[in-house]
Amino acid sequence: MALSAGSKKIRTAVFISGTGSNLKSLIKFSKLKKSPISIDLILSNNKKAKGLLLGKMFNIKIRIFNFKKNTFTEKKILLFLKKNKIDLICLAGFMKILTKNFIKNFKGKILNIHPSLLPQFKGLNTHERALKNNSKYSGCTVHFVSPKLDSGKIINQKRVKINKNDTIKSLARRILIQEHKLYPKAIMKIFN
Ligand code: GRF
Repeated sequence: MALSAGSKKIRTAVFISGTGSNLKSLIKFSKLKKSPISIDLILSNNKKAKGLLLGKMFNIKIRIFNFKKNTFTEKKILLFLKKNKIDLICLAGFMKILTKNFIKNFKGKILNIHPSLLPQFKGLNTHERALKNNSKYSGCTVHFVSPKLDSGKIINQKRVKINKNDTIKSLARRILIQEHKLYPKAIMKIFN
């Protein structure tokens, strides 16, 4: 990939829509000396996203965009990212689909975390579908973002066993714990 981790940390924006627990794990990771990234921007399409509070807590710039899937909003975002010298985007529970054009502008520099073992269960309601499917395992995946939803090159995955009495909630909780470890590992893998 075109990025390289020189002496300076890679300026990163995290896009969120909700709780932001993955954002929190990325912020904590970014503070470590070994981390190749710094988190410099939090962007959300949802002004009520709980994760935005982390911006205040950690003194990170936040920005809310009325994120419609239109070129105008995305152009504004692209300009804003450029102005802030952002070189990497981490999607973390971001519920909007980016356009082809946006992705082209950050080619190979957008990552996403997805709560399933891709290519299984792309899209929404992954835990429910894994349970209905009687899968033995589910898990999480970090991948590069490509124009096709949840289909970009996989960076790493973590398998999580599904228990007999798992509910959507219990499975989601166990997978989320693994997500928090997997995303930093993926970043280490890319830049080392
Ligand atoms: C995570 O399970 C992530 O994989 C999915 O949405 C959830 C976001 O959780 N895309 P959080 O906002 O990071 O707590």
